[in-house]
Amino acid sequence: MTEKEVGEFNEVLKDYLDDPRVRKMKDYVAHGSVNVLSHSLNVARTAYMLNKRLKANCDLKTLLTGALLHDFYQYDWHNARLSMNVFKMHGFTHPKAACENAVKEFGVDERVQEVIRCHMWPLTLRSMPRHKEAILVCIADKLCATKETVRR
Ligand SMILES: [Fe+2]
Ligand SMILES: [Fe+2]
Repeated sequence: MTEKEVGEFNEVLKDYLDDPRVRKMKDYVAHGSVNVLSHSLNVARTAYMLNKRLKANCDLKTLLTGALLHDFYQYDWHNARLSMNVFKMHGFTHPKAACENAVKEFGVDERVQEVIRCHMWPLTLRSMPRHKEAILVCIADKLCATKETVRR
């Protein structure tokens, strides 16, 4: 990212980046040795660059807020008991948990909620991303999760 792009990125997320509720994502592990905050910032940066490269002309506030909060579930899923019901397992349930938290803590609008709710598609078959912001975050999350897991 160029200096100008970093400036724009930070400006769009200025209400969130230093917020203690966002910083707390650092306490939870995403993949390998990567914490949820680092992962979420990776996803936000990747979504930002995809938007540029593809000239997708996304609404940046929706795109980056959704990306930053897409895994805002705030619990350690590695400690969760393995559920006998596969649909109750983390991969299926955390988008909804993250979405509810984001609404409760930050009052995010419906477009941001869609970004969060649909980021695990096609795993969560019925939560399909429809707007371009949600589609880009869904792709960015998979790219970052793969990179972070391979690199561990
Ligand atoms: Fe996720
Ligand atoms: Fe994620």
